[in-house]
Amino acid sequence: METKIPFQVIQSPDDLLEQIPNLALQQQYIVVDGPAALSETTRAILFRADIAVVPCQPTGVDLRSAADTVRLINQAQSVRKGAPEAAVFISRAVKGTKLLDEAEQLLSQTKVPILKSKIYQRQIIADTFGQRATVWDLNGKPATDSSKEFDNLFKEILKIHH
Ligand SMILES: Nc1ncnc2c1ncn2[C@@H]1O[C@H](COP(=O)(O)OP(=O)(O)OP(=O)(O)O)[C@@H](O)[C@H]1O
Ligand SMILES: [Mg+2]
Repeated sequence: METKIPFQVIQSPDDLLEQIPNLALQQQYIVVDGPAALSETTRAILFRADIAVVPCQPTGVDLRSAADTVRLINQAQSVRKGAPEAAVFISRAVKGTKLLDEAEQLLSQTKVPILKSKIYQRQIIADTFGQRATVWDLNGKPATDSSKEFDNLFKEILKIHH
């Protein structure tokens, strides 16, 4: 069940700035998971990334923090002559809700594109943590539906950067 993906914990902004280029030479792709709050760490990541992807939950608070993140991305882009390419996507969406419509409307006005792919709020995602598995490992329609959503999201992200 367990997929062996090499990982490393790198927390200091200096270490990130110095080590990301070396790690990028060793792997086809590297994914840097940023900390929850914006910080120098976020800036360090944005100064090294090719693509910045911002998940945003459809709530007022999350929309505001996505706007703060977009601001940092735009700062990095102005220093780095356009890099990193960036996109936001909606996470934990609930179909047919007013909040989702409002989030899509607001995010479509930000200075980075919004992805068509959305990740819906699903019990199966919460279950993966307890089961030490991913949605690709689990059986049943909810797991299959969820894994397709993630596949679509990843494909869309990979299309951003050619
Ligand atoms: N689409 C989803 N459906 C249901 N639950 C979800 C979904 N996405 C995330 N969760 C739940 O939300 C919690 C936090 O998810 P996640 O680790 O993605 O958040 P985070 O913003 O990265 O948190 P942190 O600030 O700790 O890094 C988890 O417990 C997970 O079960
Ligand atoms: Mg996290």
